[in-house]
Amino acid sequence: MTKKLNVVPFVSVDNMMKLVLHLGVKRTMTEIADYIEADFKRWPLFDKTPRVASHSDVGVIELMPTSDGEMYGFKYVNGHPKNMKEGLQTVTAFGLLADVNTGYPILLTEMTILTALRTAAMSALAAKHLAPKGATTMAMIGNGAQAEFQALAFGAICGIDTVRLYDTDPAATEKCIRNLANSGLATVPCRSPEEAVEGAQIITTCTADKQYATILTDNLVGAGVHINAVGGDCPGKTELHRDILLRSSIFVEYPPQTRIEGEIQQLEPDHPVTELWEVMTGAAKGRTDARQITLFDSVGFAIEDFSALRYVHDRLKGTYFFEELDMIADPDEPRDLYGMLLRAKDAWQSELISAV
Ligand SMILES: NC(=O)c1ccc[n+]([C@@H]2O[C@H](COP(=O)([O-])OP(=O)(O)OC[C@H]3O[C@@H](n4cnc5c(N)ncnc54)[C@H](O)[C@@H]3O)[C@@H](O)[C@H]2O)c1
Repeated sequence: MTKKLNVVPFVSVDNMMKLVLHLGVKRTMTEIADYIEADFKRWPLFDKTPRVASHSDVGVIELMPTSDGEMYGFKYVNGHPKNMKEGLQTVTAFGLLADVNTGYPILLTEMTILTALRTAAMSALAAKHLAPKGATTMAMIGNGAQAEFQALAFGAICGIDTVRLYDTDPAATEKCIRNLANSGLATVPCRSPEEAVEGAQIITTCTADKQYATILTDNLVGAGVHINAVGGDCPGKTELHRDILLRSSIFVEYPPQTRIEGEIQQLEPDHPVTELWEVMTGAAKGRTDARQITLFDSVGFAIEDFSALRYVHDRLKGTYFFEELDMIADPDEPRDLYGMLLRAKDAWQSELISAV
């Protein structure tokens, strides 16, 4: 990769797809999960803040910054549930990694695909620590853009071999079944959430709606199940009935953000939750008994994106899956920024004269 500091490697959507296909989707998610786990294990040294959200009637636009003191990263991401009906993505994103020592960017990349990969990697990583041992079947409620990534990550990281799929739109379920045809996962289309959760040890909810929805009612959740609640990730946007939360051991990424955005916005502000990073370091317990209901109240936190950016930055080395962007004005004499502009004017004028 380039060593010129003014030139920033840029990973387009096309190049991200090539990189992921080159590495393999399952390998990519497994390795991103390893990067996330490594970063969660050094959680206290990160700069942390709930993401900065700008809400409108139709969606949200968010900035997600963090730093480990050596690198700084941020993601721009939107969430617009109505987009899908207009032929647009519900979630799109891009992000940047920078060197803390200079403040210069070292990577700019698409993150729509990367977000799907990191969200699925994070979900499966949480389940690795919380789901019942030997789980083989996952119910997948909401079969949109994130769904196949979730199914594949749970296959690769947690050993799931069967996915029971339900969506209010059967066309979404058909799409998932088509896309997962040669994945090694058995897929079962279901006509209701009740049918989807039958025999499932893990339930993933990944729907998009801008309201307090009830995707899962209390009677659907039996003892011993692990719930991976992905779709409730904004104020006023949840998926689980409150009674499920009251019966569950709740695990979260970063409490100050999850209390605003997660399923637990339905509970008292001091309702006990366990931070996942503490489970990963061994400071807190994960699942302690077979009948316990564990819930990962996923909202997506900046450190997961930082880990994914770090992963892409590492994996790009020695490949051609990036372009070089002339992004940072960096004159040879640092104080001569205006002089650089004047010299560019002279050079440009001579170019124009020689072109005539
Ligand atoms: N927690 C995180 O880190 C994280 C990351 C990315 C996305 N998300 C969230 O995940 C959700 C899904 O994202 P996506 O990109 O797959 O969206 P999408 O719009 O592509 O898919 C959502 C699917 O949910 C279905 N659906 C809506 N209401 C339903 C219901 N009541 N029952 C069953 N299915 C229903 C829709 O028909 C659609 O197929 C969004 O809410 C998004 O904000 C969370």
